[in-house]
Amino acid sequence: MRDAAPQTIHLSDYTPPNWWVEAVELDFTLDPKVTRVTSRIRFVRNTQVARGDLHLDGEALTLISASIDGASLSENEYQRTDTALTVPADRLPEDAFTWEAEVQISPAENTALEGLYMSGGMYCTQCEAEGFRKITYYPDRPDVMAPFTVRIDSPMPVLLSNGNPVDRHGHIAEWHDPWPKPAYLFALVAGDLVAYSDHFITRSGRTVALNIWVRRGDEGKTHYAMGALKRAMTWDEEVYAREYDLDVFNIVAVDDFNMGAMENKGLNVFNSKYVLASPETATDRDYELIEGIIAHEYFHNWTGNRITCRDWFQLCLKEGLTVFRDQQFSGDMRGEAVQRIDNVLQLRARQFREDAGPLAHPVRPESFVEINNFYSATVYEKGAEVIGMLKRLVGDDGYDKALDLYFTRHDGEAATIEDWLRVFEDATGRDLSQFKLWYLQAGTPRISVRDDFKNGTYILDITQVTNPTSGQADKHPLVIPVAVGLIGADGEEVVPTRVLELTQTRQSFRFEGLSARPVPSILRGFSAPVILDYTPGFEDRALLLAHDTDPFNKWEAGRSLSRDTLLAMLRDGTPPAAAFLDALTTVVRDDTLDPAFRALVLALPSEHEITQGCVDAGMVPDPTQIHETRKALADRIAGAARDTLEAIYNQMVTAGSYSSDSVPSGKRALRNTALRLLTPLDGPARARAHYDTATNMTDQLAAFACLLDAGDTEVAVRFHDQWQHDRLVLDKWFMLQVAHAKPQDAVKYAKSLSEHIDFDWKNPNRFRSVIGGLTATNPAGFHDPSGAGYAFLADWLLRLDAINPQTAARMSTAFETWRLFDVDRQALIEEQLRRIAGADGLSRDLTEMVGRMMAG
Ligand code: BES
Ligand code: ZN
Repeated sequence: MRDAAPQTIHLSDYTPPNWWVEAVELDFTLDPKVTRVTSRIRFVRNTQVARGDLHLDGEALTLISASIDGASLSENEYQRTDTALTVPADRLPEDAFTWEAEVQISPAENTALEGLYMSGGMYCTQCEAEGFRKITYYPDRPDVMAPFTVRIDSPMPVLLSNGNPVDRHGHIAEWHDPWPKPAYLFALVAGDLVAYSDHFITRSGRTVALNIWVRRGDEGKTHYAMGALKRAMTWDEEVYAREYDLDVFNIVAVDDFNMGAMENKGLNVFNSKYVLASPETATDRDYELIEGIIAHEYFHNWTGNRITCRDWFQLCLKEGLTVFRDQQFSGDMRGEAVQRIDNVLQLRARQFREDAGPLAHPVRPESFVEINNFYSATVYEKGAEVIGMLKRLVGDDGYDKALDLYFTRHDGEAATIEDWLRVFEDATGRDLSQFKLWYLQAGTPRISVRDDFKNGTYILDITQVTNPTSGQADKHPLVIPVAVGLIGADGEEVVPTRVLELTQTRQSFRFEGLSARPVPSILRGFSAPVILDYTPGFEDRALLLAHDTDPFNKWEAGRSLSRDTLLAMLRDGTPPAAAFLDALTTVVRDDTLDPAFRALVLALPSEHEITQGCVDAGMVPDPTQIHETRKALADRIAGAARDTLEAIYNQMVTAGSYSSDSVPSGKRALRNTALRLLTPLDGPARARAHYDTATNMTDQLAAFACLLDAGDTEVAVRFHDQWQHDRLVLDKWFMLQVAHAKPQDAVKYAKSLSEHIDFDWKNPNRFRSVIGGLTATNPAGFHDPSGAGYAFLADWLLRLDAINPQTAARMSTAFETWRLFDVDRQALIEEQLRRIAGADGLSRDLTEMVGRMMAG
């Protein structure tokens, strides 16, 4: 045995495997400390390449025995390292053979939550991306696809794996998955679980059994997820003509899970946070996320499972497309405009931030050390945006044709981005060679606009530039679809949306036959993931806020006015203009508009968005000042719109029993925004009444936040007393206290909460509540000038890294913006990054992240 040093993997080094897998049989004898796994794998030669060695991945496995075609292998017949087992070609039969091995693993000691592990007394697995190698020796790469047969031997009452159930007697269950799949989609669950069951009849008339498996006591919280699953199944049949392909679809909720959820074939495993909901315990936002994530994982059955990725560089092939699909679905369920604004808010907060810092990488990265570090906002969210642009460029019919071709041409295959683009070229006849740059070039393009009006002709002169990112100095012009409409001075639309295709560094577009100079509404629907450097004057933006027919740009006009108002307040204390406050109030008062939309108009840019705004405006961002200024603007808006907000608070009452539908949840969003704005003005009485009369978690939590802001300490005790038995609600209790602590107290609060009896740092949700509560929801506290927030995060990252590298590495991205701040803060952060980098035994995951952050 020798230690394998962390290696950088390059896309350009891809080679097909020497051996394919024809079929796999796995036998599990489960035990917390000593689980036995027997594998029987039928290998056949890949005749496309020269005959070669058999490479099997394997990590943290105790090998008991191995044989080929029944003849056991002695130790000199193979080579073994910490991460692999290789049998030289000359020891292998000519064209095909059966590999059998028995290994021993210890799920109870698996704290990384990757491979087979235990959560709350149940066994579960997480294999994506490279966790299967912790279960047995196998070619753990997504281009090796095979049908699996799994036998589980355990006294646990419920034993699940992929595919269809074949047999169940005594302690043994057998499952068979006929659809060839890569090992990362393997799953096994065993536990004392109960199911909420239903069924779905596919459009060709097949009946599918649906089960949501949860711990005893949680059955009552599964109904919403089941409804969401059925809506997703129907939608995929109607919109993409995709039908489900097994007799059962199982979902399991687990409490200890690094990510949100996982699309294992026929056996999706979910973080319980994204399954369990009741009106009393889950917020409207939770309901929305549950529906979106259930849909996302279900949609992977076609985009990810039936067609998978050739290698992990192609991750956006399944994730970008599946995010795009789940966003389309959510738009259809909740309303397109609000959904689009939410998606763009998230894109700007996470992906633009990533693209502007040391972790910037292309949608299809070219190299990695640890693939888990590349399940990033860029791969997911920019990956989805790229598909949205493609759809806009080829049109809805072109998109449908291309997708149909994709599903027929590549079903059962492991595909690449080249395959994906070729399908669009073949289906539509369009040359996509320049468009492909969206997959290859990192960084957010900026477009700037100059306009001119002469003799009835309006000219838009558009320029694009992408700044250098680490490792990519030279950038080429991209194909950028810029959706534009023109509005007349009276507020009437004079030219409806037209998509301008920007392909060069600089290009002019003409609109003829106008009687007067129009106001342009540029980048409607946020038609491309770019930064628009174009700020029309106040009047023009107020006009768009009042009259734009494009809801995204209507909202954007208000947002950009808020942003500029904040920057002016920060720069020299310029107070908000009365005209701005009026324009905002007018929209918020307009009851022909969707309440959810009005709530979005009232929401101020996040502290991070203002930070980025300062940098763009050439100012050094001061997190404390940003926090205070944002609060001051909120108070000014509240003062100016007081009557409107009071009226909203009194009118936006939702009658009857709770429903998470978009209409009542939009009303609650607007009403709770009004409550938040009014509380600092009027004192906590209203929020107290709101808290005491709340009949759902959305309202209770909104009031809880207001009361914490108002310095009410007793409410936290009451909340804890009421909810101490509910893990998911307690996560909220932890997070909100950190989020709403005064910046100068935030680290102190986070520290004392991390010493609370209910703080279980090994549970990723709880860890994220407190440590993520500080870094993500209390930026002014995290960036406390003393550096205490940085040291606190570094301490916890080092501690967590020793048991769960994947989550530690993810949480380390709180440092990715460090270069934006003043030199003192930079020095303090750098000190912590160095301390982490220098620690003994640091994981490959965290080593890579810290290295990239320090280098960039
Ligand atoms: N395939 C991923 C889960 C995953 C992520 C496995 C990272 C291994 C490493 C799954 O489909 C996914 O994308 N889940 C998201 C939620 C989704 C709605 C974007 C997640 O877990 O955050
Ligand atoms: Zn996914």
